Amino acid sequence: MKNLSFFLVLLLNISCQNTYKNEYMPQLTINKEIFGKTKENTTIHKFVMTNMNGMEVSVINFGGIITSLKSRDSKGNYEDIVLGFDNLSQYEDESPYFGAIIGRYGNRIARGEFTIDGITYNLAVNNEPNHLHGGLKGFDKVVWDAAQEVTDSTASLILKYISQDMEEGYPGNLKVKVTYFLDNNDDLSVRYEAETDKKTIVNLTQHSYFNLSGDFSKDILDHEITIEADSFLPVDSTLIPTGEIISVEGTPFDFREAKTVGEDISMSNKQLSYGNGYDHCWVLNNQNIGLRPVASAYHPGSGRLVEVFSDQPGIQFYSGNFLDGKLKSKQDGNYGFRSGLCLETQHYPNSPNELDFPSVTLNSGEKYMTQTVFRFTSK
Ligand code: GLA
Repeated sequence: MKNLSFFLVLLLNISCQNTYKNEYMPQLTINKEIFGKTKENTTIHKFVMTNMNGMEVSVINFGGIITSLKSRDSKGNYEDIVLGFDNLSQYEDESPYFGAIIGRYGNRIARGEFTIDGITYNLAVNNEPNHLHGGLKGFDKVVWDAAQEVTDSTASLILKYISQDMEEGYPGNLKVKVTYFLDNNDDLSVRYEAETDKKTIVNLTQHSYFNLSGDFSKDILDHEITIEADSFLPVDSTLIPTGEIISVEGTPFDFREAKTVGEDISMSNKQLSYGNGYDHCWVLNNQNIGLRPVASAYHPGSGRLVEVFSDQPGIQFYSGNFLDGKLKSKQDGNYGFRSGLCLETQHYPNSPNELDFPSVTLNSGEKYMTQTVFRFTSK
């Protein structure tokens, strides 16, 4: 009898443990480990978010950089599909913005100059003759405060940074918060928030380079792209929009139906020659409905698909034309020409100097808040 009751208690215990496991064990986790030390001797951590399917996103608090992102192929294999480095010094010294948060202003500002209320501000000309991606030490190169949170439905990494008044030439103390959320549907959401104490400009984005094949020795010309845009912004030879908005109809810039990157990229076309391929901002449709599908990339070989949803008016589709085989890859070998592609949701380049473009001004007392979701599936 004693033995029987002992057995019953044991059974009850096991079944309670199982119930506990099924209902309460967090299916999403975040692990924190040391990634490296900056040149100023600051320790940088890597946060690995994992969901119940095995999708894994690694982010470091240097630049808010996604260093690795494993998404599933049509056979259910999770593999890393973002270009990056396995050490901090390459990110500090030579990164073409791999995986980083870009700010204060993603993309170019002509001649590094803009005016607010009659005052002209001068920014670094770090991409002759223009300003690019926030300057010499943009948000891609600063150390962010990081906090992690896991709920039943998401694992999130909350990154905060205070950019001082006149840092990189931009007015206003800008408090920035960027949150990465991973859920069990293999969605990675990025929420950007900012507040200023003085009228300023803001345009934040995420600069991951995707190669959905998972093999970074291959180029991305076989990826099929869609962009929900009837028009795009033609640029001058320095990649500054001319101010015109042009229909994509009958041009290599028409991605309303899925088309491979390679299909038209070698056409003789002035815009393609300025970008040495695609490096343009598309004017997204349905700008008044908030978060909506804006673009996708599909790799037929692996079946991997990334769909992008955003509330932003534009998307810069960059086909990795500046990659030239010099940067050492985290896999064996180097990053070759067009070995990654970027889908950067954002406001239009040079908006501070184009009054007809949607405004990028942030006033003191206002809240900047935007969202982009990357959905990783396979078919
Ligand atoms: C953006 C720009 C490109 C290039 C890359 C970084 O996508 O539009 O011209 O500067 O960033 O190399």
